[in-house]
Amino acid sequence: MSGLCITIFLEEYMEISALQKARYEYRPKLPKVLREDITCITPVKGQKTQSASDREELQRLFPNTYGLPKVSFSLGNGKKTGRKLNVGVILSGGQAPGGHNVICGLYDALKRLNKDNVLYGFIGGPSGILEDKYIVMTDELINQYRNTGGFDIIGSGRTKLETTEQFEVCTKVCHSHSINAIVIIGGDDSNTNAAVLAEYFRAKGEAICVVGCPKTIDGDLKNESIEASFGFDTATKTFAELIGNIERDANSARKYWHFIRLMGRSASHITLECALQCQPNICLVGEEVKAKNQSIDEITQYIADIIAKRAEGGNNFGVILVPEGLIEFVPSLNALISEVNDLLAKTEKEFNALDGAAQKIEFVGKRLSAESKKVFDSLPVEIKGQLLADRDPHGNVQVSKIETEKLLIQTVEKRLKEMKAKGTYSGKFSALSHFFGYEGRCAFPSNFDADYCYSLGYNAALLLEADLSGYLSSITNLAKDADSWQAGGIPITMMMNMEQRHGEKKPVIRKALVELDGEPFKYFASQRAKWATETAFTFPGAIQYFGPASVCDQSTITLKLEHKEK
Ligand code: FBP
Repeated sequence: MSGLCITIFLEEYMEISALQKARYEYRPKLPKVLREDITCITPVKGQKTQSASDREELQRLFPNTYGLPKVSFSLGNGKKTGRKLNVGVILSGGQAPGGHNVICGLYDALKRLNKDNVLYGFIGGPSGILEDKYIVMTDELINQYRNTGGFDIIGSGRTKLETTEQFEVCTKVCHSHSINAIVIIGGDDSNTNAAVLAEYFRAKGEAICVVGCPKTIDGDLKNESIEASFGFDTATKTFAELIGNIERDANSARKYWHFIRLMGRSASHITLECALQCQPNICLVGEEVKAKNQSIDEITQYIADIIAKRAEGGNNFGVILVPEGLIEFVPSLNALISEVNDLLAKTEKEFNALDGAAQKIEFVGKRLSAESKKVFDSLPVEIKGQLLADRDPHGNVQVSKIETEKLLIQTVEKRLKEMKAKGTYSGKFSALSHFFGYEGRCAFPSNFDADYCYSLGYNAALLLEADLSGYLSSITNLAKDADSWQAGGIPITMMMNMEQRHGEKKPVIRKALVELDGEPFKYFASQRAKWATETAFTFPGAIQYFGPASVCDQSTITLKLEHKEK
């Protein structure tokens, strides 16, 4: 695709909704310091940083970018002239609401710093830079995407920028356009790669600065310096609206149990936040399942017991939230999945040549260890098929394609029949399944995400201008009003540790899982027994963009609990 194709594409979509038109007028809120004359905002360097672990190894791998100081922005004395920047921006990985605003904030700040600055948007994710496919951002283009959902301004992709050969291509492409800065908008893996690219450029003496922005609806890119990844707020509010509507339907009809699976590749943050918002009868948290070493059988019994208890009160209905990543947190299933991943990687050609699901299931079944074969055999045929479906670019199973909610409906139904035969259950069980994920990834960003994302992008331009390579754009104090937000940069190496990935030790940003001793989980655990038996549903309703701040400008409950003053 070329710049020309993108223009044609936009013209085909000239009709816009009333809300989109109204949202064009929304002026995102910036932290106080970023509202000052941009030419007077200066970085203040703090103490040098350390990674949480594996310090020597990381220092060896990142000799030029390890140990950099944290940076905060404040109002300086003099005006700077603003060196000329040609910036390339890349959207990486799954869509998350607010991505367009990161680009809008970046664009506006670049133009304010120097009207001759140029922003290139690489098309289709990281592959765009490798293939040199780009568009040059203009006011006209940017104005069509302000405060809108989606990543369609330039598209996204899951290609990884990680090999030296790829970095050499990036260098050539940057030279050909005189690009001296790159912004990578992505999750933990993409920002890990941003750090490696920043180190590569520094080591080669290339004057190309690389800055990252924390994106993912999954909410698992956070730590003491990054309070939230963007998109989590809007996605969870969108899912919570849908769950609340289903709860109200369940409470009205009083005849269905709804099993709702929610996205989140591994961590259960989305599911937990939705539980805090909607107070369902049951919410499974993958991290707890792992900590308690629970099997599918135990999870099934836990659910069946609550269904039986509610049936005693005549309540043959309810809502159950299941995190997408659950399957990999159940130890026996996790072992099976790793074995299948390895097996499919080793026997790729032979396996792909097989015709039909039955043959593939038989092929794999014969090659598994005795323990994993037992687990595999216990699964319904549809789930077996889903476990063997296409891998992601890293050879991992795509959990969004595994219908764990349907698996649980089957196991729970069977268990309830057994309980009925024993006389320990006498209700009616009729279940419906749902999966929410793609519904939330491109929603119009909430005011929170619109503000946060615009600020992240605006702030990224200041990091580039100060040539702070290897940093993640950071806006903190998010549980407070935008006025009190702090702006700065965090060295990416500070968030890294060494992990075993595909048989090799690699430097990666540590993924943030739900902490069982953290405030959000502790609050949920203190309430869940009540929510299980009573019908304590809450109905958050649709995201509101206009109206009182108490309705429109609220952050997630997770963020509030994590940052509540003690
Ligand atoms: P990122 O980690 O790239 O932000 O994507 C997260 C996610 O939305 C997961 O919740 C989900 O499992 C996955 O993407 C789905 O991937 P795909 O878009 O390739 O179907």
